[in-house]
Amino acid sequence: MATQESSPRPRILTGDTPTGRLHVGHWVGSLENRVRLQADYDCFFLLANMHAFTTRAEQPKDIRRDTLEIAKDWLAAGIDPERSTLVLQTEIPAIAELTWFFSMIVPFNRVMRNPTLKTEIELKGLGEHYSFGFPLYAVGQCADILAFRPELIPVGEDQVAHIEMCREIARRFNWTYTPVKPESKDEDHLKEGGLFPIPDALVGRVGRLVGTDGKNKMSKSLGNVIYLTDSSKEIKKKLGALYTGRQSMTEPGDTGNALFTYVRAFIKDEQKVKDLEDRYSRGDNIGDGHVKADIATAIDELLGPMRERRAALEGEKGDARVLEILRAHVDKANAVAEKTLYLAKEAMGLDFGRRVLGMEPK
Ligand code: TRP
Repeated sequence: MATQESSPRPRILTGDTPTGRLHVGHWVGSLENRVRLQADYDCFFLLANMHAFTTRAEQPKDIRRDTLEIAKDWLAAGIDPERSTLVLQTEIPAIAELTWFFSMIVPFNRVMRNPTLKTEIELKGLGEHYSFGFPLYAVGQCADILAFRPELIPVGEDQVAHIEMCREIARRFNWTYTPVKPESKDEDHLKEGGLFPIPDALVGRVGRLVGTDGKNKMSKSLGNVIYLTDSSKEIKKKLGALYTGRQSMTEPGDTGNALFTYVRAFIKDEQKVKDLEDRYSRGDNIGDGHVKADIATAIDELLGPMRERRAALEGEKGDARVLEILRAHVDKANAVAEKTLYLAKEAMGLDFGRRVLGMEPK
């Protein structure tokens, strides 16, 4: 059983809500970090399918499809199921139970002040008609994380407010139910007998990638995305339409525009990036079209291998492969989360039983 004691590598927990396919904004914001860190961390990647129900409870079929799609995107991007654990949120009861306990040590108003929630209410036009479970998901996300007692949470910039709340809840739990004192430093919590580490967010190279409209954050609902599954042709077409902001947002030759955000995000060769920047700012006979072609090539090189791995996962056979992986990983995930829940309940004077869930991991 992979428990904290027998696992020498520090842990990572992060995840995505299945709302659709992943795009290159996800890659530079977090996915790239996740793939890279698999070598040094014991990684848990969570499919937050329960959270998908907070705004789409009437669409279970879509949520099921999106859940499998995201898992396929992950595998295609280089998440390695031999090294990392995929966690299907709805199969981990300890998360739901910790959510309840955490919801009672965080003030209601604190949750509602969470800027990520506020933005989401606005962007999705939820008004005052969101479900009770919608704001609860923010507390649930703290439980997702803390159930695995990770050190690090690789996320895009929009998630940092959630991680801050998670850190507050971890502190408060430790102060309330363990010997840790309010004046203790974050990094001393475990040493002083706390249950939860105070985990850090890790934001990727480009925390918030601008979309192909050249203005807003890349986001499926705004239709300004380049999907990880896009073909070479689609990439070219979308970049062709990229609004560079030359007309109004920046001066001619200003490399602070969307175009050059893409240059820096996707062209790996630093010398080439510098050359393009120099030529562009000098107005040195280099048009947007030329730069866009270079970006398209770079993105295509990034996505090529992903497309190939993805192709092997298409259709029902692919679904079956993903389900097989998810089922095989449930036991390891539950072994870790159940232990955390047991220790949390023990700290709270709730050590009445010793539930054993699931089977021995394979
Ligand atoms: N809220 C995240 C998103 O919308 C998904 C998520 C759920 C998550 N639980 C998490 C991310 C725990 C990091 C850690 O993408």
